[in-house]
Amino acid sequence: MLLEIEGLVARYGAVEALHGISLDVAEGEIVSLLGANGAGKSTTLKVISRVIAPAAGEVRFDGRSLDGLDPEDVVALGIAHVPEGRRIFPGLTVLDNLRLGATARRARRVEIERDVDEVLTIFPKLRGLAAKLGWTLSGGEQQMLAIARGLMARPKLLLLDEPSLGLAPLVVKDVMETIARIARAGTTVLLVEQNAHLALQIARRAYVLETGRVALSGDAGTLLQSEEMRAAYLGSAVRVAAST
Ligand SMILES: Nc1ncnc2c1ncn2[C@@H]1O[C@H](COP(=O)(O)OP(=O)(O)O)[C@@H](O)[C@H]1O
Ligand SMILES: [Mg+2]
Repeated sequence: MLLEIEGLVARYGAVEALHGISLDVAEGEIVSLLGANGAGKSTTLKVISRVIAPAAGEVRFDGRSLDGLDPEDVVALGIAHVPEGRRIFPGLTVLDNLRLGATARRARRVEIERDVDEVLTIFPKLRGLAAKLGWTLSGGEQQMLAIARGLMARPKLLLLDEPSLGLAPLVVKDVMETIARIARAGTTVLLVEQNAHLALQIARRAYVLETGRVALSGDAGTLLQSEEMRAAYLGSAVRVAAST
């Protein structure tokens, strides 16, 4: 397993957000983390990338414990976290946003420029926008830029937090197809989504969180057929997709 999480507990002050979560992700997979608002999806990603330290439990990456590491160490090991809300630099060009994604690698300039070019082949629409400032991009373009910037760290594992949030259906489709393409090119993906229906179409497996616990897990096809899943998540997810 590339990523192994065991008995993860996380707290915000007195509030326990994760009550002992275990999950794993094999190399080359897209695994989705599903669940309602407040279930603990973002917290799980934050503990993996060490934005917050766990109160108990362990995360192992490539066989190695992440105990005691800080976010920079984790990026250097090969984990890139694209947080919720497309936090790009609005006053910088698309190109400079991408270059900043390579900061943790201390790579040489020529190497960074070569990687920018490679990443732009995955995001052809961004190539035409290279000189534009971040704030001038549409929501979908900013989301693509945020993901592309994550790839500039040359991660083995990409953590994506709700990349479809607030985007129009056609743009969402484009983002999902891009994520599938990234995975086919060899980057493992842990995808957080509220829209279970969408996520299960590109993920191989999924875990469903409910108030800080894993409530359901399995391969995507099985979950799509599951009565429990349909009743609790798929029905509403379809309505959400149809109304945005
Ligand atoms: N910074 C914070 N301070 C206090 N509580 C938080 C904070 N962030 C999240 N929480 C709480 O932790 C729980 C899980 O939140 P989160 O991981 O953001 O859920 P999700 O991403 O699934 O919507 C929620 O009850 C939320 O209110
Ligand atoms: Mg969240």
